[in-house]
Amino acid sequence: MQGFIHKAASSILFIVLVVQAVSAYKKRPEPCKRLVLYYHVLFDGTNEANATSAIVSNITKLGDFNFGQFVVFDDPMTDDHHLLSPPVARAQGFYFYNMKTTYNAGFAYKLIFNSSDYKGTLNLMGADIIAQEARDISVVGGTGDFFMARGICTLRTDTFQGNAYFRLQMDIKLYECY
Ligand SMILES: *[C@@H]1O[C@H](CO)[C@@H](O)[C@H](O)[C@H]1NC(C)=O
Ligand SMILES: *[C@@H]1O[C@H](CO)[C@@H](O)[C@H](O)[C@H]1NC(C)=O
Ligand SMILES: *[C@@H]1O[C@H](CO)[C@@H](O)[C@H](O)[C@H]1NC(C)=O
Repeated sequence: MQGFIHKAASSILFIVLVVQAVSAYKKRPEPCKRLVLYYHVLFDGTNEANATSAIVSNITKLGDFNFGQFVVFDDPMTDDHHLLSPPVARAQGFYFYNMKTTYNAGFAYKLIFNSSDYKGTLNLMGADIIAQEARDISVVGGTGDFFMARGICTLRTDTFQGNAYFRLQMDIKLYECY
């Protein structure tokens, strides 16, 4: 009887250890730095002087979902929802709609920080499939205070006020920090 209990106990211990090892293997690391910023996209056809985004091509005859549209931007980034809050960084780069079956903006841009908190850049790229509530793009590198950084940026649409203005939340999680 005692031998049986001993065997049962050691089998249970073995199973617990295997389950722990598997879950430790699957568990993602915690970010070493996290920044939640807001990206303001302002197209202003009535006042081009204050637009921060330019539609370079709008070839809508190729299909629906803005397929073929290419946008260059130099947009302010703030740490709250307000367009007129002091910017903490600029987002400079481009996106292009590259799917005919849904809205999918391929992003490639850099975040440029030049404040007392941070100086340097983060470089980001990936697919923004707008119908999804949360979209992950890659942080592929960085410079300055973000030397050699890598991570994930989760995009969420914060507001969409037609073509003139929309705002995305960028939840930046870095997993490599030096
Ligand atoms: C841009 O200009 C328009 C028209 O003058 C104005 O209503 C709007 O508030 C301006 N936006 C910004 C961010 O300055
Ligand atoms: C793109 O072109 C289409 C067709 O000419 C037009 O309806 C649409 O408003 C344009 N989009 C923008 C954002 O200018
Ligand atoms: C960064 O900010 C400083 C101080 O405001 C300014 O002198 C410098 O030109 C800025 N650098 C860039 C690249 O914008």
